[in-house]
Amino acid sequence: MVVPYKHEPFTDFLVEENKHAFEAGLKVVHSYLNHDYDLVIGGERVATKDKIISINPANKEEIIGSVSKATREHAEKAMQIADETFKSWRKSKPEMRADILFRAAAIVRRRKHEFSALLVKEAGKPWNEADADTAEAIDFMEYYGRQMLSLKDGIPVESRQIEYNRFNYIPLGVGIVISPWNFAFAIMAGMTSAAFVSGNTVLLKPASTTPVVAAKFIEVLEEAGLPPGVVNYVPGSGAEVGDYLVEHPRTRFISFTGSREVGVRIYERAAKVHEGQIWLKRVIAEMGGKDTIVVDSSADLELAAQSIVASAFGFSGQKCSACSRAVILEDVYDRVLTRVVEITKNLTVGNTKDSTIYMGPVIDQAAYEKILNYIEIGKVEGRLVAGGNGDNSQGFFIEPTIFADVSENARIMKEEIFGPVVAFCKARDFDHAIDIANNTEYGLTGAVLTNNRSHIEKAREDFHVGNLYFNRGCTGAIVGYQPFGGFNMSGTDSKAGGPDYLLLHMQAKTTSEML
Ligand code: NAD
Ligand code: ALA
Repeated sequence: MVVPYKHEPFTDFLVEENKHAFEAGLKVVHSYLNHDYDLVIGGERVATKDKIISINPANKEEIIGSVSKATREHAEKAMQIADETFKSWRKSKPEMRADILFRAAAIVRRRKHEFSALLVKEAGKPWNEADADTAEAIDFMEYYGRQMLSLKDGIPVESRQIEYNRFNYIPLGVGIVISPWNFAFAIMAGMTSAAFVSGNTVLLKPASTTPVVAAKFIEVLEEAGLPPGVVNYVPGSGAEVGDYLVEHPRTRFISFTGSREVGVRIYERAAKVHEGQIWLKRVIAEMGGKDTIVVDSSADLELAAQSIVASAFGFSGQKCSACSRAVILEDVYDRVLTRVVEITKNLTVGNTKDSTIYMGPVIDQAAYEKILNYIEIGKVEGRLVAGGNGDNSQGFFIEPTIFADVSENARIMKEEIFGPVVAFCKARDFDHAIDIANNTEYGLTGAVLTNNRSHIEKAREDFHVGNLYFNRGCTGAIVGYQPFGGFNMSGTDSKAGGPDYLLLHMQAKTTSEML
């Protein structure tokens, strides 16, 4: 009997002992900085000449690791092995697959602070954000293992006296998992785990800025007893390896998390049926967001201000769920804005090598330039009231930035910036606020701060996002508690960490035996 699922608790870094444990994790990571990581294809290590160099975004001089870069030939080899391995893996016992995940979760739990420390180094996460990323990775493994156990016998259907009918879920085939850098551990591990625990084999292509944490995860899966060929590690260029695998006729499904632009490209390319392909590919795509916090006149305004700051600037706003629009009813607008600016001006920005720094860098030079470009656009579209500057002399640092009095149709109100920038917009009344919140092609997260019951009910019906929160911020969904995923251009309406997520990786088979 498996104990019921409970989410992994977060670490309190005000406790000295926890701080020391994390520092010990950082030491372990230091001991393997600048190591080489090979591709893993059918359990074999394959080194390539061409490497992806993973660096610390807070300190460009610090190399986290050199990772072999797959070519199309490697991708083809990995596809053949995954295809062959599927023949046996699809028949493996669901209990055994779940046990591998439970063991992997236990290994990560034992090395929790080391993994979080690696996220501090490779993704520039502050300690608490790194700790939450690792906790979420553990949660995904624990949760999907249990979900598989609950699905293993199928779902009862009716039978007449002359027959015995069964309805069972079977796996799909080879899945391509393409993961982002912003939850470099949790999302990568969650997508991979869901795919293989439901009986599929996997080609994992992690984001090129955070491939080392994925390499470490592969080591954990091996230690947990995952047979060779079930998960193959093929980091490489999206344009080269990504396109090749998405278009491959033996690809059965693609599980993607990343930007709208790349998600749409994958969706279009996956739709084309290639020679030799005998199925329509399934695409699970989780994409961007333009997430809004609405504050009405009845709200606890201190809670509102704290929620906006945490949701806008946690991990430098680099969450698909981050608050990039604050829509405030006009009679409390000035008070909320003043308080948010006040809190923001006290935030610390810098290298997150110790626990006291609130905000680290953005991920790379391209992100740095893109965000600063949006800040220039914001200067035209609104009134800069906090931040606005960057410094990329050592790492890619950008101040938490607030624009006030932005119109509802401004670009910074509609386009995903993916950095520490929030726009404030005034609403005439609550209906207007919800119209502004929905005035985007995305539909991922949102929050409403209110003590007005009819506003809660109105938002529940009309605020069109996959994850809607009341009287809290709009980030920080927990696996199994707040299944996560958005509407419209935020993706294909899936819910990671939810009760129906594994089914997206499976197909139902009906059997009927005459008695
Ligand atoms: P991205 O789209 O640039 O990259 C995501 C992945 O796609 C990477 O592994 C990348 O190498 C790969 N890729 C790039 N081109 C490809 C191609 N042609 N074919 C196949 N793969 C290709 O996104 P990112 O910068 O890593 O992540 C940030 C984005 O992800 C933001 O838009 C954010 O909102 C979104 N995101 C969404 C969710 C969600 O759950 N909805 C969660 C996290 C991040
Ligand atoms: N699941 C992450 C959050 O809710 C993206 O913030």
